[in-house]
Amino acid sequence: MNTSLRRSWLALALPFAAAFFSLQAVGQDFPNRPITMMMPYAPGGPGDTITRVFAGAMQKQLGQQIVVENTAGASGTIGSAKIARAKPDGYNLLMIHVSHATSQAMFKTLSYHPVDDFEPIGRATSGPMVIVTRNDFPAKDLNEFVGYVKANASKISLAHAGVGSASHLCGLMMQSALNVQMNDIPYKGTGPALTDLMGGQVDVLCDQTSGTVPSVKAGKIKAYAAAGKSRLPGLPDVPAIVEAGVQGLDINISFSLYAPKGTPKPVLEQLTAALQKSVADPEVRQRLEAMGISAVTTDQARPEALRAHLKNEMDTLVPLLTKAGVKPN
Ligand code: MLT
Repeated sequence: MNTSLRRSWLALALPFAAAFFSLQAVGQDFPNRPITMMMPYAPGGPGDTITRVFAGAMQKQLGQQIVVENTAGASGTIGSAKIARAKPDGYNLLMIHVSHATSQAMFKTLSYHPVDDFEPIGRATSGPMVIVTRNDFPAKDLNEFVGYVKANASKISLAHAGVGSASHLCGLMMQSALNVQMNDIPYKGTGPALTDLMGGQVDVLCDQTSGTVPSVKAGKIKAYAAAGKSRLPGLPDVPAIVEAGVQGLDINISFSLYAPKGTPKPVLEQLTAALQKSVADPEVRQRLEAMGISAVTTDQARPEALRAHLKNEMDTLVPLLTKAGVKPN
């Protein structure tokens, strides 16, 4: 090959070679400083509890501190927007659940797209929900609860963590299944909602189990039904809602991990590997099981599985919200 041709070949190849080696280099010293894991709901709720379990487990795997940040409000979209805009360098992560799928249907002026502006890292947990009330709610069992709600819905306050959140969806499904309309009381997370339920300031909450099961066992609130087809391991004496002949309320909530779009592939692969080791960690599995929650399998803790899961939630839950008459803000 003559000299001038060789020079032009090199001139053409050099930028690609430089890009390839710099990309490979990106992952090599990651992480070299603390990572932020955004939990876009208030401290003390199920999302916060689960996020702290994985922050602790993943920082062991990655050898760097993971700091949980609770930027709450607007059904998790304020914190999510912050991560969508963050530097795509692997140091800004988002732990979120079903409200990522419903966000686009809930807000007309969402500043991000739940799919286009994020890189999926993998799924982390899945878990059931339970219908709980203030301790002096006037029903001695599930059948009496159903009867009382049907007769007094307009006088009952129903707490949730914002439109499109898990507790909101569960509340919608419950009201639709009982053909009633209660009074929505939104919070920045079900941590603060549970506090008001224990104080008797609000009547009913459909929530995940990490905070509710211990509160029921401590006699601070009452549980009437598991929001699905089977009873909860942590509350074996509480019937499933189907045992009262109520159909149409069967919900399971999955938390998953995302990074901003453009996060380098070698960094994403390290984050997915750390997540997979965390879901397989016996200590993590035991801690979650004690709250009535399951860690997913390592196969589910992968980008492809999360991409499919998010698409399924967007395809199935958004129509449910539309059917329930929920209009975008
Ligand atoms: C919800 O969707 O209800 C949230 O998960 C509540 C929370 O985590 O605070």
